[in-house]
Amino acid sequence: MPTPRQILVTSALPYANGAIHLGHLVEYIQTDIWVRFQKMQGSECWYVCADDTHGTPIMLRADKEGITPEELIRRVHGEHTRDFAGFHVQFDNYHTTHSEETRHYANDIYGRLKAAGLIEVRPIEQFYDPVRQMFLPDRYIKGECPKCGTKDQYGDSCESCGAAYAPTELKNPYSAVSGATPVRKSSDHFFFKLSDPRCQAFLRRWTREQGRLQPEASNKMQEWLGAEGENKLTDWDISRDAPYFGFEIPGAPGKFFYVWLDAPIGYFGSFRNFAEKKRAEGAIIDVDAFIRPGGNTEMVHFIGKDILYFHALFWPAELEHAGYRTPTKIFAHGFLTVDGQKMSKSRGTFITAESYLKQGLNPEWLRYYYAAKLSGAMEDIDLNLEDFVARVNSDLVGKYINIASRCAGFISKRFDAELMQSSSVLISETQTAAASIAGLYEQREYGKALREVMALADRANQFVNEEKPWELARKEGGEQALHRVCSEAINLFRLLTLYLKPVLPQLAGNIERFLNVEPLRWADAGSLIPAGHRINEYTHLMTRIDPRQVDALVEANKVSLAPTPVPQPHSQQRHAEHQQHAEEKAAVSHIGIDDFSKVDLRIARIANAEPVEGAEKLIKLTLDLGTETRTVFAGIKSAYDPAALAGRLTVMVANLAPRKMKFGLSEGMVLAASGEGPGIFLLSPDSGAQPGMKVK
Ligand code: 2FM
Ligand code: ZN
Repeated sequence: MPTPRQILVTSALPYANGAIHLGHLVEYIQTDIWVRFQKMQGSECWYVCADDTHGTPIMLRADKEGITPEELIRRVHGEHTRDFAGFHVQFDNYHTTHSEETRHYANDIYGRLKAAGLIEVRPIEQFYDPVRQMFLPDRYIKGECPKCGTKDQYGDSCESCGAAYAPTELKNPYSAVSGATPVRKSSDHFFFKLSDPRCQAFLRRWTREQGRLQPEASNKMQEWLGAEGENKLTDWDISRDAPYFGFEIPGAPGKFFYVWLDAPIGYFGSFRNFAEKKRAEGAIIDVDAFIRPGGNTEMVHFIGKDILYFHALFWPAELEHAGYRTPTKIFAHGFLTVDGQKMSKSRGTFITAESYLKQGLNPEWLRYYYAAKLSGAMEDIDLNLEDFVARVNSDLVGKYINIASRCAGFISKRFDAELMQSSSVLISETQTAAASIAGLYEQREYGKALREVMALADRANQFVNEEKPWELARKEGGEQALHRVCSEAINLFRLLTLYLKPVLPQLAGNIERFLNVEPLRWADAGSLIPAGHRINEYTHLMTRIDPRQVDALVEANKVSLAPTPVPQPHSQQRHAEHQQHAEEKAAVSHIGIDDFSKVDLRIARIANAEPVEGAEKLIKLTLDLGTETRTVFAGIKSAYDPAALAGRLTVMVANLAPRKMKFGLSEGMVLAASGEGPGIFLLSPDSGAQPGMKVK
């Protein structure tokens, strides 16, 4: 017996601030199939993952929800593990990067890189939000595009004209966090010296080593590394200033590891946490044998092509120079498109894992379809919804399940559920295919593997079609032949089940129970069910997809992107809106905190109030938000004398799309109460509130 392989396998860690969607699932399903295949081969294969919990977006998201980051990541951890389990993605451990194990390795790796002279501290200048008192990542700076002037563009590129630029080039920049005008500010940052000749030399060698990277990934790396002698790699900024949700850098108060520094280290954190849990159960897993150099173990990362830079450059360079082992292989996959296009919320193709399951769709349909589309290359895969229905119905139900459903009943009813000894050319050819199918799984050529399995299923069906058990059953003296044909078909079905088991684990489990056999392992392809073995009652194994289920799924994921109606500052109109809202409320009686937090409510000081000529109901308000002023036309003249308003505080909706009115641009809305009777009552905060403060 050859020594079993020992493999540590990871999938990329999903961020802890969003739902798992069908795009994510390509990777987890791809990895899970590979891991299940390795386990069936008898390898010691551990599949670990975790939530990627640190960074500014998670900190701000928690803040918006009015909870702590710890509360947010705890909740999301529950949602993620639920969704993965729903799709039968079976991690050996699913941890969090916000853990003592990850902190331990982050500090250790950092300390060793520092000792090796590969960490440098130098000041850099960045945009700073003076209101929130924080440095702003590029995506939190918005402003007017320097090329075409479109407003509200992100700090890196313009959605209107497509121009790419630095955040410093934006005109009238503002902080997307507070709305304040950012200022330039310098602070010390910690850098991992990727430009060091040691890193360059190592990466040139490592990225070209046979089998580490897919050929297209290796080529990409050579582009990034530049020609021999060229030094294209720049140092990597691994620190962020407080406030930041993450790990404080040892010996550097107020400085935190950048989320991407501790994310891959989270693979180790999760594995160590797993080993500790196992130890508590009395099992020993030698963590160092997997993460330190010198052993025969393998470490394999499954990732999306967009994060290749982090995994094939930063990560191995860090590991190598901190005395850890480097990845054996990095498998990058492409993106998911749905019906040939990017997933889209408005088209309903940005489908969450949760909604897929809630709509009652079978997760194994998707596992099968993805597997049928996957290869070992870095190509994108398309979920064509029509093809999804057709392929699953024809392959799984029409071909595969059909074999058992046509023969099992005869065995139960006519032969007391007992099988007879089987042997045939078809059976032995189906058995022989085990080696090539295994090779394809190993290479992640799942599409080819499934084509081979389906070709075998076709032959099995052809055999049943030719032998016609339903006719043998009626034929005098056909008993023996019926028993032989059905036993053979059941044996073929068992072999196909074994080959499909990495993809369809739940179904395979049900079939093992029906066949009354032990969990199938790859080596079982070498044997058949012995004569006299009794099977259990056949129960329905898989239903067909009804195309209407897919239509309903898309419908359920459609998010209306219609612009929110801009309320007129006019009481009549406001009333109409209230009614509309009341009707909406009847349909949806609650909104989530997410919906509520979309409304940016701010304390505003009425700096000036004046009547509007030609508009008897309107008052023109100039509102001071602390860092900016806004003009708002409010329909409150019937209740207020403009002169009495100046100086008082009120509450405004600060992120309402500006509306062009006859009298000028209205840049928001003030809040006022009104009932059935007369009167409009402007809201005011308690004393102490300051202009610009958020109301939540
Ligand atoms: O791109 C992402 O979603 C990251 N959260 C992936 C991290 S993978 C690993 F490095 F942790
Ligand atoms: Zn532009």
